[in-house]
Amino acid sequence: MSFELTYVYLDHNATTPLSQEVEQAVIQALPLWGNPSSIHQAGRGPKSLLREARKNLARELQCSPLELIFTSGGSESNNSVIKGVYEKTLGTARCEFITSTVEHPSVLKSFQYLESLGARVYYVPVSRQGILDIDYYERVLSEKTALVSIMAANNETGVLFPVSLLSQKAHEKGALFHTDAVQAFGKIPVSLKDWNVDFASFSGHKFYSLKGTGLLYAKKSSEMEIFILGGAQERARRGGTENVLGIHALGIQANQLKNVGVYFGQMEKLRNRFEERLLESIPGVKINQAQVPRLPNTSSVLIEGVDGETLLMSLDIKGFAVSTGAACSSGNPEPSPVLLAMGLTAAEAQNSLRVSLGWSTTEEQMDHFLETLKSVVQRLRRLAESDVGITYGS
Ligand SMILES: Cc1ncc(COP(=O)(O)O)c(C=O)c1O
Repeated sequence: MSFELTYVYLDHNATTPLSQEVEQAVIQALPLWGNPSSIHQAGRGPKSLLREARKNLARELQCSPLELIFTSGGSESNNSVIKGVYEKTLGTARCEFITSTVEHPSVLKSFQYLESLGARVYYVPVSRQGILDIDYYERVLSEKTALVSIMAANNETGVLFPVSLLSQKAHEKGALFHTDAVQAFGKIPVSLKDWNVDFASFSGHKFYSLKGTGLLYAKKSSEMEIFILGGAQERARRGGTENVLGIHALGIQANQLKNVGVYFGQMEKLRNRFEERLLESIPGVKINQAQVPRLPNTSSVLIEGVDGETLLMSLDIKGFAVSTGAACSSGNPEPSPVLLAMGLTAAEAQNSLRVSLGWSTTEEQMDHFLETLKSVVQRLRRLAESDVGITYGS
């Protein structure tokens, strides 16, 4: 399927396009088909690609190369830590876990699984603005806590959580701390040294690399059981022949990251300008988390009287890709659990739209998007008004 030139992609939290550098590097590396575990010639090229990628990523993330484990993506990294720490601490005095109510399903469902095995899990609530309830966190954190898993940035709202502070508090009680940093990497500066976490998850397709590739950072001293048992790959911490081309792609993209800081500011300027103009030009619109620290690229917008799915489809026909929430739940008519957890009503959550910008988003695209959004919202509201006789934004 090819996109028309007029197609404007504003769904970068769902996935990002492939960077040209990655595309070229992968094509060039295709002939390196050997098994990196082989000690003969065919294995040497692939093995050096793995070594190079690990080095590049460690430099970018500020950790030791030996602390990085290549995985199949964010979901596997999250599952590995949560289940791996549970198994390691089973039968010890550390039998409690803490997470938040707005995590990605790969975290929430892993914890629900631990609950089904009898573990005690606390879910830290958030305010309507998406701010984590730190008092609740401090109350439930104790010498019994084995692991805290709280995300760095929310995929639907972009709200940032104070990772260093949360990690420090967990460490004061002797607990391990994991952060799902899938949405943060490539959108804000990330330093594992500053965060001082024990584990962190990353996903290649959220930073212009390949799908089915990811990383788990596991601090040297932190212990967990192995999730995928098998060969001695990844220093016997994750079995399975490595996805050499995918890992190579991650390493190439890590090299690009040192030049992308400029995009963070650019996305923020475009996002803020879009939100200002949106509020001026369409009545009955709210920005869901305007007043809190957020990713520079994400806007969660509540548009009264317009169903998000209908709006999304109308915009798609006009050449704009946006989302109503997490990509993994699109096609699901239920309102976003993240927005519900923030205290929005089901109707408000269903009237919400997620717009997520990328490195290549331009001012012209955002202006074109706003004009189209205005006319689509007007049309959908007219249709709704003629059905029920309501006027919005008065
Ligand atoms: C916050 C967050 N964590 C984890 C994941 C899962 O990553 P992957 O698609 O690589 O499994 C996603 C993907 O949407 C995400 O947004």
